[in-house]
Amino acid sequence: MPHDEWMEPDGVFTTLALLPNGESHSLQAPAGWRLMEVLRDHGLPIRAECGGACACATCHVHVAGPGRLPLSAPEGDELDRLAEIFDADDSSRLACQILTGPQTDGLAVRLAMDSLWDDFVAGGVS
Ligand code: FES
Repeated sequence: MPHDEWMEPDGVFTTLALLPNGESHSLQAPAGWRLMEVLRDHGLPIRAECGGACACATCHVHVAGPGRLPLSAPEGDELDRLAEIFDADDSSRLACQILTGPQTDGLAVRLAMDSLWDDFVAGGVS
């Protein structure tokens, strides 16, 4: 099946972002954006301190549900950064290493506690 048949008519893909406080946000973005940028542009409290250089691991998310197509497996620097995260598990990814497209359409990600803004956590998230 050609790639284009998976796209929405307007080429916009929707990802569900889940926060530890129970909030959920439906985020729309065109193909080819870093998911970290989409989270940040929608005002969600993700630290992403290195700006997407795969150097900080503060864009840690847990994949909570699949998109229309499978995500490619983490590799290289992403695997190295994930290995440095205390509470990483098999669902862990770095949002800056996930590009939007059919693989993020319907995808659900839960922002990890270690990647949230300090003031968001201080506001009572448990
Ligand atoms: S933003 Fe730093 S590793 Fe993703």
